[in-house]
Amino acid sequence: MSKDVDQSDITTAEPVATPKVDSPPQSTGEIHQPVVVAKKSDADGMPEQQHRAFEQRYGNSDLDDWAWYEDPDPATRLQTDRLIDRGIDRLLELTKSEAKDWKVLITCGGVGGEATYLRNKGFTNITNSDFSSEAIEIAKRREPTIKSIVINAEAIDAEDGEYDLVIVRAGLHHLPRPVLGMNEMLRVASKAVVALEPNEGVIAKVLGQEFEVEEGEINYVFRWTEELLEQVVKSQLLEDPVHIENVRSVHHHKVWVLAEKICKGDKAKMHKLIKSVYKVGAPLLDRVGNAFIGIVVKDPDIPHTARDEAPAAP
Ligand SMILES: C[S@@+](CC[C@H](N)C(=O)[O-])C[C@H]1O[C@@H](n2cnc3c(N)ncnc32)[C@H](O)[C@@H]1O
Repeated sequence: MSKDVDQSDITTAEPVATPKVDSPPQSTGEIHQPVVVAKKSDADGMPEQQHRAFEQRYGNSDLDDWAWYEDPDPATRLQTDRLIDRGIDRLLELTKSEAKDWKVLITCGGVGGEATYLRNKGFTNITNSDFSSEAIEIAKRREPTIKSIVINAEAIDAEDGEYDLVIVRAGLHHLPRPVLGMNEMLRVASKAVVALEPNEGVIAKVLGQEFEVEEGEINYVFRWTEELLEQVVKSQLLEDPVHIENVRSVHHHKVWVLAEKICKGDKAKMHKLIKSVYKVGAPLLDRVGNAFIGIVVKDPDIPHTARDEAPAAP
């Protein structure tokens, strides 16, 4: 298995062919009961099809398959960590805090890629979680000093406000109910939430997928916007003081694929090329970017939304 963490356009993944979805049966004029296929839960209350797919995927992998999460190669680190780095740097800047100040829960964290990133960034109190017990076993072997536990992101087994910060990367769009996943993050985070997910918009329309397939199971690529995040947050937190922001960016695994081709796999050259592509492209394209870096801070001293800080239009 290579670095195909995800098939959505915000990660380093190889794209897969759009799955064939059978066309709906022609109407006969009769009223049919809706058939719910994607939202069935298994005996543990996990979304059945996605759970089976990820258990299979992680179960078929070896520790070595995940070595790139700690690969110090700058090109790999840049392509893998660029978005989470932007989110975390902005969070620390907004809250005038340090990494060591935060008790963190990662949901949909798989074998612990974000956990490794956070540990290397200076975070000391980290819990990685995923609904796949196979992933959690690998995470424990990869990072024995980091706590890893099985959690369903739609029903987090934690008290309200038990963690300071809850983070997700490329996970919510695998849930049958992505907004519920965000609601759960908001519930168990006492101070902040960071979500790295696909963003709606022009680039997503051109380069993104609508559906993706994991071990034969399909999921919808749910895309966020700052306005949607604001509505979800306000519905839950009501008039509590809160800062909501999307450090929107542009990011695509095809940049990696292209760089690999052009540089014939020479990692030093790839690093330079990838860096230049994002340096030139990002400032131009971030505003219409396909990567959502949603940040919610429960803090009365920070202005309410990013838009409140922006100068009024002339
Ligand atoms: C695309 S992978 C991303 C893994 C990791 N966050 C990363 O970026 O490397 C999606 C992850 O979400 C997990 N997942 C999917 N549905 C979940 C659920 N309901 N609860 C918890 N984890 C879930 C999968 O097992 C998988 O590890």
